[in-house]
Amino acid sequence: MALSAAIILAAGEGVRMRSSKPKVLHELADKTFLERVMTSVRRLEPATLAVVVRYQARRVADAARSYGGQVTIVEQDDIAGTGRAVQCAMTQLAAKGPMRGEVLITAADMPLLDADTLNELLDFHRTSGDGATVLTTMLDDPTGYGRIIRDAGGGVLKIVEQKDANSGELSVHEVNTSVYVFDAGILSNAIATLDANNAQGEFYLTDALESAKRYGSVGAFAAPDPLSVEGVNDRVQLAALGKQHNRRVCEYWMREGVTIPDAETTWIGDEVQLSSDVTVLPGCFLQGHTTVAADAVVGPYTTLIDATIDEGAHVERCRIQESHIGKDAQIGPWTYLRPGNDLAEGTKAGAYVEMKKAHIGKGTKVPHLSYIGDAQLGEHTNIGGGTITANYDGVHKNRTQIGSGVHVGAGNLFVAPVEVGDEVTTGAGSVVRHDVPDGAMVYSENTQHIVKGWKPAWER
Ligand code: UD1
Ligand code: MG
Repeated sequence: MALSAAIILAAGEGVRMRSSKPKVLHELADKTFLERVMTSVRRLEPATLAVVVRYQARRVADAARSYGGQVTIVEQDDIAGTGRAVQCAMTQLAAKGPMRGEVLITAADMPLLDADTLNELLDFHRTSGDGATVLTTMLDDPTGYGRIIRDAGGGVLKIVEQKDANSGELSVHEVNTSVYVFDAGILSNAIATLDANNAQGEFYLTDALESAKRYGSVGAFAAPDPLSVEGVNDRVQLAALGKQHNRRVCEYWMREGVTIPDAETTWIGDEVQLSSDVTVLPGCFLQGHTTVAADAVVGPYTTLIDATIDEGAHVERCRIQESHIGKDAQIGPWTYLRPGNDLAEGTKAGAYVEMKKAHIGKGTKVPHLSYIGDAQLGEHTNIGGGTITANYDGVHKNRTQIGSGVHVGAGNLFVAPVEVGDEVTTGAGSVVRHDVPDGAMVYSENTQHIVKGWKPAWER
């Protein structure tokens, strides 16, 4: 048997999020719920992956297509409910030809759903020989979820939604996660008879489990990890789940040899790679494809986005995006590195320094209050405080090139395009508009005027 289709339910508005954005496009750890669920489902290699959309259909469909791979978009009609979503999907999928094998169904509002859990569910379904299997979990507080009602023999009887449940049913702690595997034929039959006879006036997919019993046996598999199947309905749940997920990510890295003194304030994305003996101090956000090599110290209060930090570098109280920081470099505090910088080994970018598309050679230091943009600096050069590369003439971004062993005085202005050779010294306050040859000293006139006995206007 093969997984003939996976259906991801993403048509709901997510009213409880109180957002202009559909719920499934909200993010947990920098990725939308929908992307996360699609990635996990894809690992099971379903022949068809269908995503059901309706609320802001175009936006959700575009997002689903943007995550790569084949996807079939199903538009749910005006009839509401998870059951209707599956009816629409099955009608569209069956139009391509008769469906055989299994169909996996999952909600898209469970961002931590992982492929391991789905594979275990599928294995359980195959081993049991049941016609339908629902993924369940036990919750201390089951409020809001559909409850799994079992018969005296322990078999699954039905699922009752919170709003339709009596007090006995409400006391059940085993809940529906909104993930199911059905035999395709049984699913088609089971959804044919759904109606909106319930508290919410919607077609419930949960009712299909009860009707499936007419065509085959129905089972339940408890998810080994409750966190992986938690649904998000509002922003309070989102924050709680995000925090628990982040704690796990931090603990994973601690076990891999990373020092993280305060996981509560250290946020690490799923794609980030850390070597052992890295230290991440409190108040840090490590995002995207950031990598940090051994003995580097990140933080406190640092944001790294797609940054590459080499061995032994210290990056403190700064923001670094799409930039490479060489071995033993010192960045911060209060440094802003915009995309496209490459800082070699032993470099320094200090307080109130901003850089963009800057290539900084080995051992070169930009210690204070400078803007270095579209620039190439050689090795072992020192840039005086308050130096600016004036790279923009209003039309073009122009380049500044400064050689090796250069000593730039304080408060210099390099008016690009301009090229300064090796071993050059520049005087304080120079405005360098023209190229400077190797070994030269350059300074620009800056006449000092003294007006003796001058008084401010109010005193005159
Ligand atoms: C649903 C289940 C409930 C379960 C809970 C788990 C039903 C009737 N109830 O309730 O038993 O415990 O999930 O989180 O299925 N959706 C559509 N079309 C719609 C309505 C919803 O595609 O018309 C999608 C949503 O985008 C979402 C998913 O289905 O991804 C679940 O919808 P939601 O409204 O969150 O259902 P719950 O009330 O949480
Ligand atoms: Mg939900």
